[in-house]
Amino acid sequence: MTLAIVYSRASVGITAPLVTVETHLSNGMAGLSIVGLPEKAVKESKDRVRSALMNAHFDFPIRRITINLAPADLPKEGGRFDLPIALGILAASGQLPREVLTQYEFTGELALSGELRPVDGVLPMVLGAFQANRQLIVPAANAREAALVPKAQVLSATHLLDVCAHLKNESALTLCSMDISAPIIESVLDIADVKGQPHAKRALEIAAAGRHSLLFMGPPGTGKTMLASRLSGVLPPISDEEALEVAAVASISSNGFDPTHWKRIPFRSPHHTSSSVALVGGGRPPRPGEISLSHHGVLFLDELPEFSRHVLECLREPLESGCITISRAAFQSIFPAKFQFIAAMNPCPCGYVGSQSDECRCTGEQIKRYLGKISGPLLDRIDMHVEVARVSPHFLFEPQNNQTELSATVRERVIKAREYQQQRQGKCNTQLTVPELDNVANLEMEAQQLLAEVMTKYNLSARVYHRIVKLARTIADLENSTPITPAHLSEALNYRCLDRAKPYS
Ligand SMILES: Nc1ncnc2c1ncn2[C@@H]1O[C@H](COP(=O)(O)OP(=O)(O)O)[C@@H](O)[C@H]1O
Ligand SMILES: [Mg+2]
Repeated sequence: MTLAIVYSRASVGITAPLVTVETHLSNGMAGLSIVGLPEKAVKESKDRVRSALMNAHFDFPIRRITINLAPADLPKEGGRFDLPIALGILAASGQLPREVLTQYEFTGELALSGELRPVDGVLPMVLGAFQANRQLIVPAANAREAALVPKAQVLSATHLLDVCAHLKNESALTLCSMDISAPIIESVLDIADVKGQPHAKRALEIAAAGRHSLLFMGPPGTGKTMLASRLSGVLPPISDEEALEVAAVASISSNGFDPTHWKRIPFRSPHHTSSSVALVGGGRPPRPGEISLSHHGVLFLDELPEFSRHVLECLREPLESGCITISRAAFQSIFPAKFQFIAAMNPCPCGYVGSQSDECRCTGEQIKRYLGKISGPLLDRIDMHVEVARVSPHFLFEPQNNQTELSATVRERVIKAREYQQQRQGKCNTQLTVPELDNVANLEMEAQQLLAEVMTKYNLSARVYHRIVKLARTIADLENSTPITPAHLSEALNYRCLDRAKPYS
């Protein structure tokens, strides 16, 4: 028999579907052809495989070699199939035992010398191979990433010859291992650095406790960027499963996953010149964008109105659904995007409209155009809008003392409030559906009356109503209070400054 089967995996979104590499040797004109709709990079792998086999002193069969990568309709890019193709040729030509091959899956790009080079998207492959009950063999440079799933028992190799020696039972490959219990380097930005601004700090704590989206508005230099950058420092730690999803997204991104970032809460702050592809993902092959790289973490858009309107519109769908679908002619990639949204902006182009200390130089038309960039539907999806006024010099002179609250203290309260939410409803307040919210809201009668009055006075929609109740629920949770009292509700209303001002309508 001159047919060999080797298993490998492709990369689609954050999944890694199985690819069967079939190698057949037949009589006829000598040559190597790869079928199964491979892209250009796979064709290049022909040359690499040939050189690697010869440099590793194997025979390159002078026969007609046909390689089929099945199924044909999966996207196949990169050099990840080099190793499986080389092993297929070796097995089909009798230079390797065929039977053992099917217990394994392989990935790796070959250097011309036969050394193995790293590939991207290893983590989804590890999970796939583990579920299929086969052992994965990866290039040594991917070993630390592969070790994030310890139960998967992935093997790593530096050279094609090492893989062959392992398969021939001559010398075993090493298991991938990494000490993932190593301490996580905490964010160095502490909320204690921000002087004054108790209102904004409290808003940040509430946002963290219920995973609410938040917009800071105020003149330049008041600490909006400073405050937003300190959100991840007050968030609860992420679970192992969440960390694995975060790592899987990074693994398929162009930068790859850095194992020293294991369990770090993502915090992404793309520049306002970012394109929609950079923000939501895309390209060929599709790569995750900033919204997916901030999955289970924070997406911070500073100077929100400076982003192009089209880019901001792209955020609406993922804000609602928690994922993004990128469609190509042949297939769809779905990337997760459950991020906490935080933004900051000046109230007008010069930044001083409404300010008591400085005079605004903008015309009414300029202000309208500036604010018009952020559409009503996007604003509708933001739970909290908080004014950040200039801090009085008296606060700035004050040195930090033992009364200054540190991020760690705030974080403890946030963790407690999150625990109540988990016990009560298994999710954060911001993720509650309308019927779930009705069940858990527990608004006191007076709070109901207050809310009804405010809603009539400012002509608020049902969507806004639900946002306010969720927010009040989080404020009550921070106090471990079962009902929502009028005090909780009026505090929540404080974080909805745009409902009162309505500059957008
Ligand atoms: N409340 C504050 N406490 C301490 N420093 C502040 C505060 N607000 C502003 N600053 C100082 O001003 C700089 C600019 O703040 P930043 O957060 O970028 O302002 P904004 O984003 O509101 O324009 C900071 O780097 C910091 O040095
Ligand atoms: Mg700023």
